[in-house]
Amino acid sequence: MNQYLEVDKWNIIEDGFNPEQQRSSESIFSLGNGHMGQRANFEESYSGDSLQGSYIGGIYYPDKTKVGWWKNGYPEYFAKVLNSVNWIGIDIAINGAPLDLFKCGVSAFKRVLNMKKGYLKRLFVAELPSGDKVEVEVTRFISMARKEIGAIEYNIKSLNFDGDITFKPYVNGDVRNEDANYDEHFWSEVEQGSFEEGGYVTTRTKKLDFHVTASMTNQLQQNGNDITEDADTEVESMQVSEEYTVPVSQGDEVSLHKIAVVASSLNHSTAQLKPHVKSLTKDAAAIGFATLLYEHTQRWAEIWDGSDVLIEGDDKAQQGIRFNIFQLYQTYTGEDERLNIGPKGFTGEKYGGCTYWDTEAYCLPFYLNTAPNKVARNLLLYRYQQLPEAIENAEKLGFENGAALYPMVTMNGEECHNEWEITFEEVHRNGAMAYAIHNYIQHTGDESYLSEAGLEVLIAISRFWSQRFNYSEKRDKFVMLGVTGPNEYENNINNNWYTSYIGCWTMKYTLESIEKVRSNNSERYSDIQDKIGFSEDETAQWKEIMDNVHLPEDKKRGIFLQQDNYLDKEQRTVEDLNENERPLNQHWSWDRILRSCFIKQGDVVQGLYFFEDHFDEEMLRRNFDFYEPRTVHESSLSPCIHAIMASKLGYSDRAYEFYLRTARLDLDDYNEEVHQGLHITSMAGTWMAIVEGFAGKRAKDGELYFAPTLPDEWSAYSFKILYKGRRLKIRVEAEEVQITCEDGETVQCYVYDEQYQITADEPLKVSRKKAVA
Ligand code: BGC
Repeated sequence: MNQYLEVDKWNIIEDGFNPEQQRSSESIFSLGNGHMGQRANFEESYSGDSLQGSYIGGIYYPDKTKVGWWKNGYPEYFAKVLNSVNWIGIDIAINGAPLDLFKCGVSAFKRVLNMKKGYLKRLFVAELPSGDKVEVEVTRFISMARKEIGAIEYNIKSLNFDGDITFKPYVNGDVRNEDANYDEHFWSEVEQGSFEEGGYVTTRTKKLDFHVTASMTNQLQQNGNDITEDADTEVESMQVSEEYTVPVSQGDEVSLHKIAVVASSLNHSTAQLKPHVKSLTKDAAAIGFATLLYEHTQRWAEIWDGSDVLIEGDDKAQQGIRFNIFQLYQTYTGEDERLNIGPKGFTGEKYGGCTYWDTEAYCLPFYLNTAPNKVARNLLLYRYQQLPEAIENAEKLGFENGAALYPMVTMNGEECHNEWEITFEEVHRNGAMAYAIHNYIQHTGDESYLSEAGLEVLIAISRFWSQRFNYSEKRDKFVMLGVTGPNEYENNINNNWYTSYIGCWTMKYTLESIEKVRSNNSERYSDIQDKIGFSEDETAQWKEIMDNVHLPEDKKRGIFLQQDNYLDKEQRTVEDLNENERPLNQHWSWDRILRSCFIKQGDVVQGLYFFEDHFDEEMLRRNFDFYEPRTVHESSLSPCIHAIMASKLGYSDRAYEFYLRTARLDLDDYNEEVHQGLHITSMAGTWMAIVEGFAGKRAKDGELYFAPTLPDEWSAYSFKILYKGRRLKIRVEAEEVQITCEDGETVQCYVYDEQYQITADEPLKVSRKKAVA
């Protein structure tokens, strides 16, 4: 834990300059707009420790795989989202001496991330070694309204000198990734130069030939008056800069507006890139910083209107959820089905900006409820478009007949992960792809997705499962050997309950879906059959497996077993561990972790979360009571699922504890790794912990359910969801639950299992049940 940020409902505030926290703050104060993102690096040069990070969604590089012991089937490369052109840079010199906070006396330093309006502010007073003192205020945003624009206002005031202030804004494409496997330089020069409004740089990736053009246009003012003198423009390899030297007297204030355009060949042909950037730069210069900022904050106001969660009486919890929602929308806005949500979003290099099962299992519910259907649909289509690669991936591993294994980690559909116990064995991810389709249809009622795309994905995944199970003569049952479940602290285990259960469920759901598409859209059904060579004879094998699968359980305790022989392990609980042994992954050898009973993240509990309806409450309780005390929650994805299950089971204190842990995971740096970037995907879990956890929201069998609880620490909370074309507002107070239909027709829902109609005219008011156990 490392708590150095102030608690505030709408802002993240760092008060005081902490060079030793610089990387952590660079992660926390990151900005993004779904198209690109930027760590909170300083604009002026900084010689202290820092991780430079400027990322563009979809621009990646296949970095050659590096492993100690190569295994057949490993991917040749790991695709990573690249640190791209630096568009924020502004070198500052005071009377010729560089402003570098690492080498200055710094006071009154403050960084404020205004989440309501979506901008970052930095304030400080710096005393240079010469004794010259300046007061600086910098505002930066990446436009939510115009996806290719970022802007900076850099104000400097002379506090004690008459002399010169030099601004040297630049765009620099000569950047590197810290995590390059072979220290390779990923970018090469294409062109740089200047045009009337400013300068530009075009670079391209050495592999895949992605082109990026970034430009800047600069405007200066002194004490509120425009400075019209021309800058000295310098064009160097992969860099263009403009230098302005402004004579000042003590008390003068000089302000630079730098507006940058960052565009790529993902959205424009290479021939069009430069003309496009040129014309957008011209437009941006004419619009100006203030109007761009206004449009941007307007867009944030719309996003907040649909997605905010208001918590009354608990500012820490309030700040936590807003930070999570803010970072999610900075990472993914859902217009482009080629983009996805990396576990660290645009905030660091770890996980390479790639897509994991996190998207389907965690992020999808958030976007389903807070954004129009097309956003969640785009997340599903992303996987549909990558189905051919998932089939190829399975073929490489020896599967056939159109079986698909979606990658554990991917950028373009191909597997990038290269640890055998995960690449080859953590196959449960396939189940999450199928579950997401089910989840989407349950929530939206949009059955058309099945015939359009979903069924093809489901059949391919079911084909995989049917080949991954094998018949065990000894047991006279179907078993699944050599897998890794969600709990990555166990590898190469047999019959992981979660994986086998979701495998069987997928086949069952696929059978139901086949039935639906065949009866509702027979023409499309035969097209699919032709396209993928599918005959219903195949499904006999699926049924046989489903009816005769080995799912390990312990009858005496009345629980499912995480895997065969789990109970052979020495049974200890997390309470038996010393604080100084944790996190285990930083203190224990890997073999010790593997032999222990400790669980990294929900495994059986993850399955119970997905399929809670399949079991009675006592079954859920016995399993939760058994597994949670053995769970160290060393994956960010763990606390949120436990928060939801704890709420469901009436363990309200635990639910609240888990909620705070997930909501403030990065703000309080629970896992001491925020310097690497934020845990973006688990942030969606925070939202789930409130909406599905405390409020008990479920969409199942065509109906909507709530069973709201209220944490003792809160006096009330409210949030909105989009549900089958309606916008509903749910407010939970100590005595009452109110549900208002803000938009759309009357809809039926269940509150504490009683049926109600919610009409547009009148809010539904239901007495709150105090203990829902
Ligand atoms: C978790 C995985 C997750 C990955 C990316 C790992 O630590 O165990 O379940 O997909 O992080 O978030």
